[in-house]
Amino acid sequence: MEPTELQTLREAIKASPDNLPLRKLYAGALLRHNRFDEAEAEFKEALRAWPNDNSLKVGLAEAFFKNNKTSVALILMEELTESGQPPASVWLLYAKILQKAGDAGAARDAYEKAIILDPNLRDNFLESEINLASQRQQPNEPEKIKLGAGPGEGGDPERIVDIERPKIGFADVGGMEKVKEQIRMKIIFPLTHPDLYKAYGKKIGGGILLYGPPGCGKTHLARATAGEVNANFIIVGISDILDMYLGQSERNLAAIFQKARSLKPCVLFFDEADALGANRTDMRHSAGRHLINQFLDEMDGVGHDNEGILILAATNAPWHLDPAFRRPGRFDRIVFVPPPDEPARESILQIKLKGKPVGNLHLARIAQQTKEFSGADLEAVVDIAIESKLEESMRQGQPLPIETDDLMDAAKRHKATTKEWFQTAKNYALFANEAGLYDDILAYLGIKK
Ligand SMILES: Nc1ncnc2c1ncn2[C@@H]1O[C@H](COP(=O)(O)OP(=O)(O)O)[C@@H](O)[C@H]1O
Ligand SMILES: [Mg+2]
Repeated sequence: MEPTELQTLREAIKASPDNLPLRKLYAGALLRHNRFDEAEAEFKEALRAWPNDNSLKVGLAEAFFKNNKTSVALILMEELTESGQPPASVWLLYAKILQKAGDAGAARDAYEKAIILDPNLRDNFLESEINLASQRQQPNEPEKIKLGAGPGEGGDPERIVDIERPKIGFADVGGMEKVKEQIRMKIIFPLTHPDLYKAYGKKIGGGILLYGPPGCGKTHLARATAGEVNANFIIVGISDILDMYLGQSERNLAAIFQKARSLKPCVLFFDEADALGANRTDMRHSAGRHLINQFLDEMDGVGHDNEGILILAATNAPWHLDPAFRRPGRFDRIVFVPPPDEPARESILQIKLKGKPVGNLHLARIAQQTKEFSGADLEAVVDIAIESKLEESMRQGQPLPIETDDLMDAAKRHKATTKEWFQTAKNYALFANEAGLYDDILAYLGIKK
């Protein structure tokens, strides 16, 4: 039997055939009642009278799509999304059509735009279909997140966040045993043993903030964490997402979290986290209140599911970071990454020399002589030694192995870069050490409180 809704609308149209809203209602009702052929005919007829009405075109595309005429639906949607600023619902329909057409990558793009414009449009079924399809299509292909792209634009090629699958693990990070252990307990085990954590009533979530002098392996360790658990790695420089257009920084951040949620398990790493600081006087390079709030919302996971996302951040200037970030469930672990101690320096040298032509090396001696050197400094020492050995090998016309003395000479030619940082850090540790936040710095410097 014909639903009364349809009968009533048809009667009304007979009385006033030029009433556009009425025609739309009727065509939409036909769609809802799964009468796709009639809906298609009705939208077409209405379009003959109102050829520039976009919502009629959207309706026709939906009728095509539901009637399994995917390729015509696609052509219509392409035209609709290329012109103007289509609303979220149009992006969502486009995503569904693209997914059906077998283009999971483009479907994901369109779906993300829909969700950014209107988070209420989340569609778990479509989301999992897109994820499955894109995993099948490109198992190891690196993906990218485009930033700074308003809906309907192509995206700014300068602003792209890469998604990596790191090949390094904790074994490639020298020293840092304490830091590795904290990462294991706080974020790796909850991922690999969620039931155990739940059994003890321990809440999963929050992230770790790494801080310390530059070049001491914060970024390296974050990347190794992803490799250690075979997870995707997204590295985000906060300054990369800052955008002068109103609301665009927040949208960039939302897009990144959204992507991370679709790529679980995943390590989401925020570098230069201090650019999020409200404590900064130099506001040119830091984010506003809105972005900070957006960040906290995303982290708190209200309305989102962050399980399976390991959140790490790093900064050389933790004192600029807004204290709101330190609350429970957020960056409630603040971990000092000091310059490597002697055994760590030896192990870093070993890692950096792996696979190189070496003689019988006494790395412990070099480690002894490189106090205050960062990992990056040690890398530089190895580079300098290799370069001069290469020159010598050229002169002699035969390959010569790297010897302890070569490294020793190189170490003398390179100056440790961590000192300057400690001069600044010491002042904060002495005069702004709220709740003993920087006790580790004082301990490292041998200063008693
Ligand atoms: N503990 C370490 N083990 C191995 N390599 C290290 C270590 N610390 C630093 N490095 C090397 O030094 C370089 C700089 O480290 P990075 O992680 O960028 O420092 P940070 O992020 O703390 O400024 C990297 O290329 C990395 O290979
Ligand atoms: Mg770094």
